[in-house]
Amino acid sequence: MRQPMVAGNWKMNGSSDSIKELITGIKAGVGEANAEVVVCPPFVYIPMVAEVVAGTAIKLGAQNMCAQDAGAHTGEVSGPMLKDVGCEYVIIGHSERRAMYGETDEVTADKYSAVLKNGLKPIFCIGETLEEREQGITEQVVAHQLDAILKTAGAASLANAVLAYEPVWAIGTGKTASPEQAQEVHAFIRSKIAKEDAVIAEGLRILYGGSMNPANAAELRSQSDIDGGLIGGASLKADDFLAICVAGQG
Ligand code: 13P
Repeated sequence: MRQPMVAGNWKMNGSSDSIKELITGIKAGVGEANAEVVVCPPFVYIPMVAEVVAGTAIKLGAQNMCAQDAGAHTGEVSGPMLKDVGCEYVIIGHSERRAMYGETDEVTADKYSAVLKNGLKPIFCIGETLEEREQGITEQVVAHQLDAILKTAGAASLANAVLAYEPVWAIGTGKTASPEQAQEVHAFIRSKIAKEDAVIAEGLRILYGGSMNPANAAELRSQSDIDGGLIGGASLKADDFLAICVAGQG
């Protein structure tokens, strides 16, 4: 039985005051969650959030990481640093990083391996654009993105990782994939991995991301191959995020 996960990707939002309020609100209600709960603040607020969640079940994640451990990499943040401040997870390959910051499959694969090497767990994101969906090549696109890590790190590496299927057209648009659309791709992802390692595939958590909110979370989370969500906009309001954390069967 896979433990569901709900992770909040706060992206580049918030201030000291608003983030303190947000995490305090989440902490107050997290006892009800039927999922492992993870929050991924902007780098600079991670230590502050770590202090608030200390001793609770809330886990910390980062939104990005440098593939190198230290040295002359101006503006970057390394795995040892993230570990040092209490992170357990790192989002890798988010479509915003692929589209806006030039992260290729090769870069995401390097980062994925570096996260694991540092004893952290990647939340590896894949997903097609609207154009790709309309061309009917969704499966080829996610298969190609997955191959980047399967060919370098191998299927066994997924024992310590989480996948997130995030259709680009559903991110921040209010247009959620239907439960059937999402389930179809999740099932495809799991079956692809099962061809390499059936046990790993069965235990692997695959999150859905893209305009998940309190109104659609229960139905999405109840799909057999959807093991929770990676939440953007709705994770910035404690009540909405908590409602997603308690929704459905997971
Ligand atoms: P939204 O929930 O705002 O659509 O964002 C999803 C996402 O990109 C999470 O990583």
